[in-house]
Amino acid sequence: MIIAVDGPAASGKGTIAKALGRHYDLPVLDTGLLYRAVGLSVLKAGGDPDLEADALAAAGFDDDILSDPALRSEAVGSLASRVSVHQSVRDALIERQRDFATQPGGAILDGRDIGTVIAPDADAKIFVTASVQVRADRRFKDALGHGGHPDMDSLIADIQARDTRDMSRDHAPLKQAPGADLLDTSDLTIDAAVQRAIALVDAQL
Ligand code: C5P
Repeated sequence: MIIAVDGPAASGKGTIAKALGRHYDLPVLDTGLLYRAVGLSVLKAGGDPDLEADALAAAGFDDDILSDPALRSEAVGSLASRVSVHQSVRDALIERQRDFATQPGGAILDGRDIGTVIAPDADAKIFVTASVQVRADRRFKDALGHGGHPDMDSLIADIQARDTRDMSRDHAPLKQAPGADLLDTSDLTIDAAVQRAIALVDAQL
């Protein structure tokens, strides 16, 4: 069984994917981490994320980088969004994602193009979204919880910039896949969103 969970930054897709993993007892791959690893590798190598050759060289990252705490920062999220526009970078990460998706017993993958490109034949597909204001608010609380001093206006600007880049790129743009159910988490608690996701998946199986 393959479950595809896609959606924009801070929509709640990662939390939902992990909860589905526990519910259905399936392994979960956060595919955004792979693009973040490429973004962070480019930074460490002193390369230019907008230059396809530099981004592609970074796609051969060492797996140690996947446990680097810097991977989760918004700065690296933005770098990830810049390297992910290059088709050759996306191609370099496909096999790893498809291998994960097709392991015996099944898998859940979350990202931007799982239902459209990586696993178009997934058994269940969900597109998770939330308003920009709600997503920025989640990031704001996250940052406060980690002892940061977030600025709401720049969080909103970052999210809007990332949405625009992810949705308007030529290759594998972020969009609701055919057959995917929309789950808007703007007014839902985490528990309610997870229950709704389980109901949507069960109805598709
Ligand atoms: O989900 P996350 O915020 O970690 O993703 C970081 C960036 O990686 C996204 O903004 C997007 O540009 C890119 N990405 C992608 N395809 C995926 C997952 C992430 O292009 N399947």
